[in-house]
Amino acid sequence: MSLYHPSDDFVARSNVSGGDARRDLVARAEAAPEKFWSELAESELHWFRKWDAVLDESGAPFYKWFVGGRTNMSYNCVDRHCDTWRKNRAAIVWEGEPGDQRTLTYQELLRCVKRFASVLREQGFRAGDRAIIYMPMVPELPVAMLACARLGIVHSVVFAGFSAEALKTRILDLDASLVITADGGWRRGKVVPLKDAVDEALHDCPGVRSVIVYRRTGSDVAMHDGRDAWWHDLDRGASEDCPAEELDAEHPLYVLYTSGTTGKPKGIVHSTGGYQLQVSMAMRWVFDIRDEDTYWCAADVGWVTGHSYIVYGPLLVGTTTVMYEGAPDFPEPDRFWRIADKYRVNVFYTSPTAIRAFIRFGDRYPDRHDLSSLRLLGSVGEPINPSAWEWYHRVIGGGRCPIVDTWWQTETGSIMISPLPGATPLKPGSATFPLPGVAADVVDMRGNSVEPGGEGFLVVRKPWPSMFRTLWGDPVRFQEVYWSQIPGTYFVGDAARKDKDGYFWVLGRVDDVMNVSGHRMSTAELESMLVRHEAVAEAAVIGVPDELTGQAVVAFVTPIQGHEPTDELAAELREWTAQQIGKFARPKQIRFSDALPKTRSGKIMRRLLREIVTTQTVTGDITTLEDLSVIDRLAAQQGSD
Ligand code: WT7
Repeated sequence: MSLYHPSDDFVARSNVSGGDARRDLVARAEAAPEKFWSELAESELHWFRKWDAVLDESGAPFYKWFVGGRTNMSYNCVDRHCDTWRKNRAAIVWEGEPGDQRTLTYQELLRCVKRFASVLREQGFRAGDRAIIYMPMVPELPVAMLACARLGIVHSVVFAGFSAEALKTRILDLDASLVITADGGWRRGKVVPLKDAVDEALHDCPGVRSVIVYRRTGSDVAMHDGRDAWWHDLDRGASEDCPAEELDAEHPLYVLYTSGTTGKPKGIVHSTGGYQLQVSMAMRWVFDIRDEDTYWCAADVGWVTGHSYIVYGPLLVGTTTVMYEGAPDFPEPDRFWRIADKYRVNVFYTSPTAIRAFIRFGDRYPDRHDLSSLRLLGSVGEPINPSAWEWYHRVIGGGRCPIVDTWWQTETGSIMISPLPGATPLKPGSATFPLPGVAADVVDMRGNSVEPGGEGFLVVRKPWPSMFRTLWGDPVRFQEVYWSQIPGTYFVGDAARKDKDGYFWVLGRVDDVMNVSGHRMSTAELESMLVRHEAVAEAAVIGVPDELTGQAVVAFVTPIQGHEPTDELAAELREWTAQQIGKFARPKQIRFSDALPKTRSGKIMRRLLREIVTTQTVTGDITTLEDLSVIDRLAAQQGSD
């Protein structure tokens, strides 16, 4: 396989310049990890008080970083830049879906953050309180996050594509007392009615005492006396005297819910000090950020990618972060390229699913625009197939931009395995090597490294600064799911291969978690949602390979006696999914069946279902199958798309 090398000019100008520079960083991190991270923490970030210990492993796996240190994310993202030449630099360049535009300099951002933080303080919210943020992709979303971070209010951003029901689950699990939302947001020319969803969710959430509503769309919304207030009304009297709290390095910054192997989403808890550090380093090492860059991560702030690489990472290093509210194909499939051209974007980060969608739309859309400002491209969320990689490299990158294929997870907080663009020769489809200070490896069941060329489980052997600290309200699950498969080692949940040159190839999940368009979906969560419907007796959900979305959800459903397996029922179950979780979770296909293949002990054999969908037959071992005739019936059954 041919290697892709960065140009000499790219290497000469990059932050980590050449293979030797990278190897030197890796070696220094390996030889003395605490020294390595503490030197970076000192040079990269502001600390109100320096730490007493870099790493405390005594409570493993509940590791602590920069123990005793005091810092503040909001201060590091905004305040400190305002004492430098950056004060009038664009912090956020924003474009709404209808085409409206706003630019916030670091000074303007600071004023907005201080004002909103003082509003929250006036309402009596304090460090440790929890806020849910359910907003469209407008600048006030990062403002809300930074205002919470300023006071130590733990925020949980709920992706605006989640339904009222999913929102409610999160509000209750977090026991949040504050909800920050908007009247709506724009998506493909239509209003997404966010405030209506909040009202519906709050019927059952007595703990929420305040709802702050940003006016985005101007739609009619109900305002509840004594609970709801408009952002602009509160802002009118807001003070700009609101210093950042000197928070403990381990103070929780946010909780982000993600799917696991059970029916209940997990609240991933991130802390402040270590997270700040590793996210900053990724901006420098992986995105190679320079002072003149305009940087665009085209994800949504509702997922971890947006937290770390639209909001916190870019602002920490004082770059300009582009933010776009709407759909990539609105009003036409060239929207991303129009934006990249218009704002002269230099570094661009997106997902393989988006890239494959653009390939389908055709080259004429990128061809309409001048993409010559781009110098570096990134990919995240799922393995990128080499042909999509090649297209991205050739058509979007004009053959001159390295591609950083970044592997990481909600749990890891920051990028863990990735090329350094001026230092790592690329192999399309490989995330290449662990970053300096990241002890990732591929191992067998006993935790032994596999030989070069071998496959196994992806693990991280040592704690890393941006690691999640626990699962909200469930430390036992934290230990069981992640730290006990191979005792003392972080179990990622992905399979991977290490080739003879040591390159990592991430192959996909080894658990019942699917990856649809780079979003994590839980088999169990979808199944328990489906069986809550009155017409469903049993459901089995599988992920099958899909050319566009990586994996697609296929649901096998057994209706309750008296309910007919009709197209109407399939449509109803799709609508039910939209209501219970969100439209993005709707199964691609629903197949009805009067029985599901089970082992004699009653476990659904998903492997067989997967085979039936992908090959229409079953070849593997079926000796444990309870009722053989089920297979024939299922194979004969047509799906309803
Ligand atoms: C899972 C994490 C990290 C932000 C987006 C997803 C898969 C992620 C890659 C990549 C192959 C990848 C893994 C991982 N994944 N990036 N570059 N190559 N697989 O975050 O929802 O926490 O999902 O996404 O399976 O475990 P997430």
